Amino acid sequence: MSSLVWVELDAHSPDHNLAEIRRSNNFNGLHCAVVKSNAYGHGVSEILPLLTTADWLAVNSLEEGLELRSMGEKRPVLLLGHVPLHRIEEAREADLRIIICNFETLKAVRELPVSRMEKKIHLHIKVETGTWRQGVLPDDVVPMAREITEISGAVLDGIYTHFANIEDTLSHQYAEMQLNTFQKVLDDLKKENLTPPVIHTACTAAAILFSKTHFSMIRTGIGLYGLWPSRETRLSAETSECRLPDLRPVLSWKTRIVQIKEVPAGSYIGYGGTHRTTRNSRIAVLPVGYADGYRRSVGNTGWVLIAGSRSPVLGRVCMNLCMVDVTDIHGAHLEDEVVLLGRSGSEEVTAEMLGQWMDTINYEVVTGISPLLPRKVTKGA
Ligand SMILES: Cc1ncc(COP(=O)(O)O)c(C=O)c1O
Repeated sequence: MSSLVWVELDAHSPDHNLAEIRRSNNFNGLHCAVVKSNAYGHGVSEILPLLTTADWLAVNSLEEGLELRSMGEKRPVLLLGHVPLHRIEEAREADLRIIICNFETLKAVRELPVSRMEKKIHLHIKVETGTWRQGVLPDDVVPMAREITEISGAVLDGIYTHFANIEDTLSHQYAEMQLNTFQKVLDDLKKENLTPPVIHTACTAAAILFSKTHFSMIRTGIGLYGLWPSRETRLSAETSECRLPDLRPVLSWKTRIVQIKEVPAGSYIGYGGTHRTTRNSRIAVLPVGYADGYRRSVGNTGWVLIAGSRSPVLGRVCMNLCMVDVTDIHGAHLEDEVVLLGRSGSEEVTAEMLGQWMDTINYEVVTGISPLLPRKVTKGA
């Protein structure tokens, strides 16, 4: 690896994690892997070939869906975000399934020109059950479903919802309320003989915790990358009936030392002089900064790993550089490998630790890693 900052992806972990999530609650239906936002920052072109057991894929935008098709991806792809009305035809021609969460999109579907390739557009109604983001009000679902069945070029393929408060809590009444609302909509559709084939609600936390959220497909993101949605989800899982999945982080983030210098006691390190050395110190300069997603807030808070030892980040993280203390790491040399996220010897920096240092969640940590950094797939143990 010639780059000075890079991401490593463990080849076996994505499929392993998918299997673990399925096993946690004995799920045998379809598994949709959420690979939006560059596969949660992991690198979508590198992750896709590693997801051999995912049945479906979900991304956010039309552009992301078209990118999957340009990579030769043949699996069903669901676009979770809004497709501009004037581009719905492109989604249809690329066999990308779209969500319906308003009547304007449905009108645009009705007015689509007939497909020259005789393609139908596959639609998934998103039901508003309490997230108050995208979604159709429950009372509008049956009329909408009926209207879809009357459009000759459209197929009512699925119906779904998304939980608002399943990761942040140990008490799941809100999720229960959302599920009840969704179930009532399903009952109404059934009475009218309008039930679509693919029914899905479960993100990672729901898939692990509650088999009643599974329906015909689960739609998991963070878990397939080997990360727990939250500490609360893990605690809920530990105290529930499910088999605790062995989630293995897919991603490590690494760099190399680009300078080592002796710094006298009393020196101010970096912009703003926010750290002052209290002893004669050895400082290693790393070529990584907030432009790479290694946020400014890690300065004076977090640490990196060098040869299995923790090395604190001193002073502010700059745009492209940061400084770490290697005074006590006698073997540290120019161009030695440094772990920003991942394991070194018996030490580990997790996405959750970085999340604490950055005052955010593991989702944002990995999604924030610059797409410009090279991704390398490794075939470890
Ligand atoms: C609509 C939808 N479904 C599924 C997911 C996957 O959630 P998770 O990463 O918690 O599994 C997301 C994530 O943002 C989402 O927005």
